[in-house]
Amino acid sequence: MATDKVSLNVDDKTLDYGVLSGTIGPQVVDIRKLYGQTGLFTYDPGFTSTASCHSALTYIDGDEGILLHRGYPIDQLAEQSSFMEVSYLLLHGELPTAQALEEFSRTITRHTMVHEQLTTFYRGFRRDAHPMAIMCGVVGALSAFYHDSTDINDPVQRTIASHRLIAKIPTIAAMAYKYSVGQPFVSPRNDLSYAGNFLRMTFSVPAEEYVVDPVVEAAMDKIFILHADHEQNASTSTVRLAGSSGANPFACIAAGIACLWGPAHGGANEAALNMLREIGTVDRIPEYIARAKNKDDPFRLMGFGHRVYKNYDPRAKVMQKTANEVLEKLGVTDPIFDVARELERIALSDEYFVSKKLYPNVDFYSGIILSAIGFPTDMFTVLFALARTVGWVAQWNEMISDPEQKIGRPRQLYNGPTERDYVAIGNR
Ligand code: SDX
Repeated sequence: MATDKVSLNVDDKTLDYGVLSGTIGPQVVDIRKLYGQTGLFTYDPGFTSTASCHSALTYIDGDEGILLHRGYPIDQLAEQSSFMEVSYLLLHGELPTAQALEEFSRTITRHTMVHEQLTTFYRGFRRDAHPMAIMCGVVGALSAFYHDSTDINDPVQRTIASHRLIAKIPTIAAMAYKYSVGQPFVSPRNDLSYAGNFLRMTFSVPAEEYVVDPVVEAAMDKIFILHADHEQNASTSTVRLAGSSGANPFACIAAGIACLWGPAHGGANEAALNMLREIGTVDRIPEYIARAKNKDDPFRLMGFGHRVYKNYDPRAKVMQKTANEVLEKLGVTDPIFDVARELERIALSDEYFVSKKLYPNVDFYSGIILSAIGFPTDMFTVLFALARTVGWVAQWNEMISDPEQKIGRPRQLYNGPTERDYVAIGNR
């Protein structure tokens, strides 16, 4: 449907509201004057029909299973690009020249070290702390170290803060893992790729040389690309809302990490692998399919379903292909990969899932690859946060430089008590 206005009949008045069009995708009804003209709010819990902003970063067509970053399809970027190049694309809007990419990569590389004092933050956590709890704390603490890049109105400081966050998040994530296994932190190296540096900081030990496996490095880089950005999802909206108050970027990204942790969002990759392990064998799949369909059972198929995709998540397709490749090249046989594929086959032929358009999402297969590489399950969402940091940073920059942006402050439908007088405790 394409139109230039909609009309609303309120009492005896007919009010027209303009309809705005983007380059592709649904038009939006501009209701900014609705409350002032009618005294009415719109009501949309979960924002299923609400556009919170305009953006040029990522476009999703949920019905067609399309995901574009600055117009480039995710499968082409995953197969032909690199995470550093996709990061540049998200931040700058265009694919870089070879020279621009080399300069950008070098800049990021030279920001990968963290302040030595930051390492003391880890000592305050129990060794068995969930690494996402550590990520929330340590990333939020970055604002205590980088006062020279917290003035959000200074484009130069915004750029430095953006580079610091993209560069340091792998170092902080690897340190969270090292702390959990009682091994010494490993400093970044300037002669390694973004993914290679992260793998070495995570898995190398002082007792022996560590050589980055190119198969694992390529899979890691591809997984980062697949998680880089995804329109106005819950954690990105959290970053934008925090940023709309003028909070510094380190605090905003920490807020995004906290939101991503939820099992309905980024925490689903950890939950999906735990679910596959709990199912264990193909013959137990029907029991779990029945539980997922049972309204009285809170169990859901983790890694299935999506607010926007009512078709196959294009990232899940690339992830399944990558899982196949990595397991084969690493010579890893993981029976839960067979469980995952059989579970997908059964679910996609089951009327409940077909009617509700529930397909595997980005989180369904990622855990199988990450497990094959050697990450513990509780690091999966940390890796999602690591990759999504560039998307959060790009969306934050877009919001800060948007002349229309103002502090986000939704209203409500109030259904509490009407005014009443205080009653002294002796009279209650
Ligand atoms: C991510 O937004 C993003 O872009 C997120 C993300 C990103 O890159 O940022 O793509 C990353 O978060 C992917 C989603 C990961 N989460 C999971 O895999 C958790 C399992 N999935 C769900 O909980 C659910 O599908 C959501 C949260 C993802 C979407 O929920 P919605 O859009 O609010 O849909 P809903 O909960 O209203 O479900 C619609 C119906 C319901 O049944 P009815 O009440 O209509 O009868 O489908 C059912 C749900 O019960 N349903 C499921 C199901 N997901 C939805 N039933 C069984 N298993 C599931 N996984």
